[in-house]
Amino acid sequence: MENYDLTYIEPSTPEIKQIRELIKKQGDKVCKESISVESISKNASTFTFGWISVLQKAQLGRRSVKSLNDRFTLLSFVLCHYTPDTPDQVTIEIICSTNKSGKLLMELAEQKSISMGIKRIYLNCLDNNNLKRWYESLGYKHFTTIYSRQGVPKVYSMVKYL
Ligand SMILES: CC(C)(COP(=O)(O)OP(=O)(O)OC[C@H]1O[C@@H](n2cnc3c(N)ncnc32)[C@H](O)[C@@H]1OP(=O)(O)O)[C@@H](O)C(=O)NCCC(=O)NCCS
Repeated sequence: MENYDLTYIEPSTPEIKQIRELIKKQGDKVCKESISVESISKNASTFTFGWISVLQKAQLGRRSVKSLNDRFTLLSFVLCHYTPDTPDQVTIEIICSTNKSGKLLMELAEQKSISMGIKRIYLNCLDNNNLKRWYESLGYKHFTTIYSRQGVPKVYSMVKYL
């Protein structure tokens, strides 16, 4: 297993502004350009809890003047959304990983949801059978397909009951 630390993040986390910036600047690469920059940017601003893993870059120059984006390489992240308007559910908005931490990130999101008394987790899976099978292997079930205007399957909405 690869060696990495996962850090819990939420809006009250110290340095959250810099963490949002780190995700906005490096998220596209971590997601292998499969998720739009707009979506990454929006969710980096609106998520309610999540985790990231980073790798410290070699230090050049004075550390104190550098931003998190300069000091760290983002390796993986998951961004989840919860609202008291729908208190039984959490949505996994984005998950991206370059270091084999995807499954662990999903498990952390699930454990946190259980501790909040959440009954179900939703996510939108891209039109990618391998990805869909990956979510299914984690217990998610496809319940509806959202089609694009051309009638081509666009995203699969999936749910897991906890
Ligand atoms: C999808 C993604 C997050 C997965 O992350 P990851 O770190 O590669 O996943 P992991 O390595 O933790 O997954 C590992 C497990 O899933 C298994 N797995 C992978 N693909 C699978 C599939 N299609 N069906 C069943 N199991 C699968 C692996 O064998 C592995 O099992 P193991 O740990 O027992 O060996 C990552 O590939 C990614 O960032 N993709 C691009 C962005 C994206 O599409 N995100 C999702 C939409 S928001």
